[in-house]
Amino acid sequence: MPVPIIIDCDPGHDDALAILLAAGDPAVDLLAITTVAGNQTLRKTTLNARRVCTVAGITGVPIAAGCAKPLVEPLRVAEDVHGASGMDGPGFPEPRVDVVPEHAVELIHRILREHPEPVTLVPTAPLTNIALLLTRYPEVAGRIREIVLMGGSTERGNRTPAAEFNVHVDPEAADIVFRSGVPVTMCGLNVTHQALATPEVLARLEGLGTELGRICVELLTYFAGTYRRLWGFPHPPVHDPVAVARVIDPQLVHCVDASVAVELRGEFTRGATVVDPHRYLDRPVNAKVAVGLEVEAFWDRLVAAVAALGGPARTAEDAGDPGAREA
Ligand code: BDR
Ligand code: CA
Repeated sequence: MPVPIIIDCDPGHDDALAILLAAGDPAVDLLAITTVAGNQTLRKTTLNARRVCTVAGITGVPIAAGCAKPLVEPLRVAEDVHGASGMDGPGFPEPRVDVVPEHAVELIHRILREHPEPVTLVPTAPLTNIALLLTRYPEVAGRIREIVLMGGSTERGNRTPAAEFNVHVDPEAADIVFRSGVPVTMCGLNVTHQALATPEVLARLEGLGTELGRICVELLTYFAGTYRRLWGFPHPPVHDPVAVARVIDPQLVHCVDASVAVELRGEFTRGATVVDPHRYLDRPVNAKVAVGLEVEAFWDRLVAAVAALGGPARTAEDAGDPGAREA
């Protein structure tokens, strides 16, 4: 039986791929996509979720917009990473799927109450919506099978020397989630930096010969430029699909038990995840923490999902063959 999941995201190049993996892989049943402010404003991340669903032919999965700003601090978007649109690179057609007229937190709450089995939440963005859900409706915690999130790091950060972006944007929300008592799996930078979109990966996506494959290549090509420019990476890491992959097949992402605390006060370390697998601190284990990725199997699953979503085959004209255009 596929695992029922809800993705809470801020597309975002890698969020887009997380949506495609979740929608195209038969091991999960994508019940909803909710959006939050993070990589860009809520308006832009929501538009981007609608764009992804449109080009991937994902219909019938409700999309709901959630919180427009973090719990405490003002929003700081990642325009330097994801561009002015939040998903720069490809040109997108006018979205043909709309949002539902329900706040993300209300939609998640309703699905948790109504779904026959507990549901896994997969946040790939600042944890504002999830924290608000747990604060407003603590009684639904038991309906959450697990929260498998992309965020944090066992090592250093990518927004400050200590803090990863999703946790740094809303540390109070992350703190609420890690202290909630709901089973949490953290897929942080230490593992997502193993999911590099190499030229071989791009060739496989291109080789699908579909519009969707081409859009993935264009997303990853933009992301490659960002990662080369800002961090000197040879190939861009796709963070968010790693959390989806952990739900699809737990064997793909190896985890250890650890206590995880979110630093809220540090002068230079606010938003850092303090991960303690060696139990230096006398704190109870509250999370599974990802430490290793089956890289090849991960990409096999992602490429297969994009292939399964299909979409129209590329024409010679799409492929930039000038002869075809003239014919
Ligand atoms: C996380 O931050 C965002 O920019 C990405 O979409 C990912 O969720 C990586 O730190
Ligand atoms: Ca994200």
